[in-house]
Parts: sequence; structure tokens; C-alpha cells
Amino acid sequence: MSALKIEPKIRMMTTSRIDTERLILRSPLITDATRISDLLANWHVAHWLVRIPFPYRREHAEAWIDRSGEERSAGVGWPFLMVLRDNGAVIGSMDISLETADGSGALGYWLGEDYWGNGYATEAARAMIQFAFDILQLPQVNASALPDNARSIRVLEKAGLIHVDGRFEDTVERGRVDTQFFALERPDWERASSRAWQ
Ligand SMILES: CC(C)(COP(=O)(O)OP(=O)(O)OC[C@H]1O[C@@H](n2cnc3c(N)ncnc32)[C@H](O)[C@@H]1OP(=O)(O)O)[C@@H](O)C(=O)NCCC(=O)NCCS
Repeated sequence: MSALKIEPKIRMMTTSRIDTERLILRSPLITDATRISDLLANWHVAHWLVRIPFPYRREHAEAWIDRSGEERSAGVGWPFLMVLRDNGAVIGSMDISLETADGSGALGYWLGEDYWGNGYATEAARAMIQFAFDILQLPQVNASALPDNARSIRVLEKAGLIHVDGRFEDTVERGRVDTQFFALERPDWERASSRAWQ
């Protein structure tokens, strides 16, 4: 659990907006559709994502934004866009969705390729995990990554998730694939966060 670090600079957290040191996480708007499709129309990004159609077009982004609003209203999903605080640029997305079997939250995310390697995903993931436990009061946060997605696995480890096992997952473009499953249980997060604040 030593990898877990609580993001100390979260200034505001509601179910539709989270502020971190360098990012604003906010609900997507229909006016974001072109930007989202521009960032996702890149195989280097899309091929790591199990639920993204490719080629990714504006209408896919519009449908995702519509669904996002419905999921948020129904209390089953909380999709956020990652926005740079400095210049307002949308750089990616991160979401938590409810897994019906046990009420755990599944974390998913992507960033436009130009923005990789700056710690943005880790910063957002730490904030989203705090959101999942503090605001949504979920019992556990899960995530899965393709086995060779070393960047994403590193993000999960830095956010405190622990590797559980390998599983199969159905993808939009490539059928059933192997994935690595990670989880963080609420009591472990609470123990680690009380240490982090001391
Ligand atoms: C995965 C992704 C979100 C990471 O975003 P990011 O902002 O670049 O991530 P961070 O900078 O917070 O952390 C990346 C970590 O991976 C490390 N890393 C980078 N390239 C790596 C590589 N080839 N092998 C192993 N680790 C690597 C970085 O050094 C960093 O770790 P460190 O802080 O210990 O040095 C981004 O690459 C992405 O959008 N990829 C495509 C979509 C995707 O994979 N989504 C997740 C699906 S599970």
C-alpha cells in the first residue's frame, strides 16, 4: 500500500466537477464532441481501450456524451473530461461506472497522445478514487488493463490499486481479450489515506 498517495490539492469535489492541482475534471458537454473525436481518432490511443469503436467519429463522441448524461442522472456512471487548468484544453477523459454485481466502481480513462508522460492520468486517478470513496461511498474501485499496457498499469499502481488476477474481457473491436484486473478496497484506502494525511 506504500504506492498510495492521496492527491493533496483537490480543492473542490462535487458529482459534476473535481479540481486538482493542474486539472479540472468536469462533465462532458455536446460542444466537446469534435475535440473528443479528434483525440480518439488515433489508434495509438484507441487500441488500448476495450470499449472504443475505431475509426472513432464525431457521432461516437456525441452518443457517448448523451449516454454520459443519462448514466450520471441514473447514478450508475460518473464520466469526466480532463481539462488543463492552464488553458482550458480538453485532454482526455476518466470515468467511474458502477458494477452491478457488488456496487464496486470501475475506473476507465484515456488521454490524447500529445499529453502522455506528464503525470496527468495519475493525478486524475488519485482524485477519482478519492471521489469514489468519499463522495460516492463505494466499497471498492476496480480497473483492468491489457497486459502489455505498461503505462496504464503503472498509473493504477501509483494510484494504489493492487493486481488481483488475469481475466477475459469482451472488446468492441477485437473480441475477447486477456486483461489484468486491479482493485482497491475501501478499508485499505482509508488506512492508507489516514497515514498519508499524518
Ligand atoms: C495510460 C495513459 C492514460 C497514461 O497517462 P499518463 O498521463 O501518460 O500517465 P502518467 O504520466 O500519470 O504515468 C505514466 C507512468 O508510466 C510510465 N511509463 C511511460 N512509458 C512507459 C513504458 N513504455 N513502460 C512502462 N512504463 C512507462 C511513466 O514513466 C509513468 O510512471 P512514473 O511516474 O513512475 O515514471 C495514457 O498513456 C493513455 O491514454 N494511453 C492510451 C489509452 C489507455 O491506455 N487507457 C487506459 C486503458 S486501461
